[in-house]
Amino acid sequence: MSDRSLLVVVLAAGEGTRMASRLPKVLHKVAGRTMLHHVLAATRAAGATRTAVVVGPGREDVAAEVRRIVPDAEVFEQTERLGTAHAVLAARAALEKGADDVLVLYADTPLVRPETLGLLRAPLAAGAAVAALGFEPADPTGYGRLVTRGDELVAIREEKDASAEEKAVRFCNAGLMALAGAHALSILERIGNTNAKGEYYLTDAVEIARAAGLSAVAARADADEVAGVNSRVQLAEAEAILQRRLRLAAMAGGATLVAPETVFLCADTVLGRDVIVEPHVVFGPGVSIGDDVVIHAFCHLEGARLESGVTIGPYARLRPGTQLDSGVRIGNFVETKAAHIESGAKVNHLSYVGDAHVGADANLGAGTITCNYDGFGKYRTEIGAGAFIGVNSALVAPVTIGKGAFVGTGAVITSDVPDDALAIARSRQVVKEGWAREFRAARGKSPSPAKPKG
Ligand code: UD1
Ligand code: CA
Repeated sequence: MSDRSLLVVVLAAGEGTRMASRLPKVLHKVAGRTMLHHVLAATRAAGATRTAVVVGPGREDVAAEVRRIVPDAEVFEQTERLGTAHAVLAARAALEKGADDVLVLYADTPLVRPETLGLLRAPLAAGAAVAALGFEPADPTGYGRLVTRGDELVAIREEKDASAEEKAVRFCNAGLMALAGAHALSILERIGNTNAKGEYYLTDAVEIARAAGLSAVAARADADEVAGVNSRVQLAEAEAILQRRLRLAAMAGGATLVAPETVFLCADTVLGRDVIVEPHVVFGPGVSIGDDVVIHAFCHLEGARLESGVTIGPYARLRPGTQLDSGVRIGNFVETKAAHIESGAKVNHLSYVGDAHVGADANLGAGTITCNYDGFGKYRTEIGAGAFIGVNSALVAPVTIGKGAFVGTGAVITSDVPDDALAIARSRQVVKEGWAREFRAARGKSPSPAKPKG
């Protein structure tokens, strides 16, 4: 990447009225992360040296998300919403510190890739003062039009201010702009608001630069990449585009997705080689999958790390804090949470394993439940290597099952079991011969069950 310094200014002051939400628009999520996070991740990957984010008045929640992702970012408040140029100037203090390149982005354009930011920025190194990013939307209505002459960008005309001839242009302004740091402030300061909306338009930077004898150019992006999100419908469209991108990347990286369109990934999902993902699997945030893992149909994973050769599902739910070491098998209707399960252990049917550590090669029978919560606190269960837990056992935490120990079927285990011991914890079976026959007779029913009809 270039050694030119890069100041990124992200505009996130929009109200997002059309989202009909209590949450500010830029905190809505696509592929498991906020739109703001996507934009900041792209700018970081594109080599941002400094980051400034412009937020609406009192938007502490947006500021907190900025600091979570880029701790040294500067956050500025735009107190009045007077237009995109006005918004950029809210970050004046950051602009005054100077940078070779300045890149302006919208936080509601989450699909933009770092390569495209590089493409937009490249003309600055070649001497341009302004570069705008253009695309051809299916419907240009509402967008600013890029008026070009050869390679030169002559003007950006907002639709409300455009002539019939300019409206016929299909090459539209995506909204992202690169400005030469040396000229950015003086250009921005000269932008006025005598236009149809009475706003300070960032797009006027093009004509102002040209009037000062500087040059402006346009770069080109795919419509899918610069789609802005203004409504829940567009949020879902962005999700679909990003899911497709993530699925293609997963397959290119060596994972088999049997029915890719039914698998939902997060922006941070990591899949190893020769992973097989069957249909209808959902990956939440923080999942990392090693090589040769098989994920059967209908699994849901979040905050889980699976080492090589693990098999899970169908119908497994792995919750945050799950760590499955190599070769672990998790079967159907099993839920895990904050559980470290060591190599070769098996939890094959109908179990809940939470706040637990399970040693290597242990076997948890069908219906094993760690009773980790008493309504107030959470307690841990320790199961030693090679232990065998009989079917339908309740392990009441805090409790330790020793290495190689046996727990008999149907146990309620309330105290520790030593290594290699057998624990039986169920009431003894009582058999009373003829009791049922006498019971029925006493209630005036036939002494033996009715014969089946037919
Ligand atoms: C803007 C562009 C238009 C482009 C379109 C692409 C201008 C004048 N027009 O139009 O050429 O085709 O984006 O979507 O720039 N914002 C603030 N503070 C403000 C105003 C806007 O933070 O005072 C932020 C908004 O939150 C939004 C972005 O800037 O993220 C764009 O603002 P918006 O009002 O949606 O601009 P458009 O009219 O769509
Ligand atoms: Ca807009």
